[in-house]
Amino acid sequence: MADADCYKPGGMRLVPSYIESLAPYQAGLTVEEIQLRFGIQDVAKLGSNENPLGTSPFAVEAVKSQLNRLHLYPDGGLALRKVLARMFNLKVENVITGSGSEGIMANIIRTFLCSEDEVLTTESAFIGFQVLAKSRGVNYRTVPLKDWRYDLDAIAAAINDRTKIIYLANPNNPTGTIFTRQEFNEFYRHVPERALIILDEAYFEYAKDNPLYPDSMHYRFDNVITLRTFSKIYGLAGIRIGYGFAHEQLIGNLLKVKLPFEPSALAQAAGIAALTDKEFLHRSLELNARGLRFLTESLTKLGLEVVPSEANFVMVVLPSAGEADRIWHELLQQGIIIRPLKAFGLPNCVRISTGTDQDNHRCVEALEKCLAAQARS
Ligand SMILES: Cc1ncc(COP(=O)(O)O)c(C=O)c1O
Repeated sequence: MADADCYKPGGMRLVPSYIESLAPYQAGLTVEEIQLRFGIQDVAKLGSNENPLGTSPFAVEAVKSQLNRLHLYPDGGLALRKVLARMFNLKVENVITGSGSEGIMANIIRTFLCSEDEVLTTESAFIGFQVLAKSRGVNYRTVPLKDWRYDLDAIAAAINDRTKIIYLANPNNPTGTIFTRQEFNEFYRHVPERALIILDEAYFEYAKDNPLYPDSMHYRFDNVITLRTFSKIYGLAGIRIGYGFAHEQLIGNLLKVKLPFEPSALAQAAGIAALTDKEFLHRSLELNARGLRFLTESLTKLGLEVVPSEANFVMVVLPSAGEADRIWHELLQQGIIIRPLKAFGLPNCVRISTGTDQDNHRCVEALEKCLAAQARS
């Protein structure tokens, strides 16, 4: 953070210049917005990588069971930390919980970054991370994607004396691609101990059975923090609960900075219960695998470029930004919400989350119609 960020000739700035230059985060459109705007009741929400099966009934019951205890402060996430430590064979000191994995990301940024430090990641990184890192006012450096994947060699080559945080999402949002265990091992040899790697595994559950996937729990590197979430496969995006694993020294420092009563009691109860619902997890994985296969094959047959995905969404690369915008608008008018990726820095791409089988079919039919209309015009 330079002086000019906080001061201008003649005095102090009310708002630092690096905050003033940011745009607020634009969440995906809601079902209600589309119902209101287009008068369509049946809306398919395929824009935010949520679980189309909803929430585990175990989690819903757990939340209900807490409703007469709302006058009590929560325990700062300790109960969930203990459950996760048992589940992953760790000490509780190696685990942190927060209001979504973004909540923990925010704490990492507050805890470890000094003003002269730099953040290094890929171009078009997960937008939530971009927003958080840029709001700290430090230098934010990126390296281009290579074939829609993290270019770990280029990231390693870009590390300098000021690089403090390296952010890697695996699988990546919005491309859905992964880097392999071998690629990560090779990359890690180039990372100095004083740099912190955030391994964002928001889509871990979808990718974990791929034998090439480097489940970061198999690493006990001292400067890696793994982040995971209940927002995706566990269907708890609305309640805000996530967790992280790291060396106890890193977790100990994060605990000094985190809001004392985060996560909320309801979020924590939901998370603990969701972990026990193996049947829900299994059904969610099956539906997603079917959806990924169907979307990838059908859209490819329509002549679209689809990036093969290991997550719960696919990215479609279109010939131009105009075409991406047109498709997004036309699908909206038919009650299908997908995600345009201009804000990620990919204006000619859209992202489509897997939905129910019915929603997936509806989306492909709508796209087919949209492409046929374009061909006729
Ligand atoms: C890569 C990635 N990380 C983190 C998150 C945010 O997760 P949470 O809801 O736990 O904050 C998302 C959500 O879309 C994501 O795609």
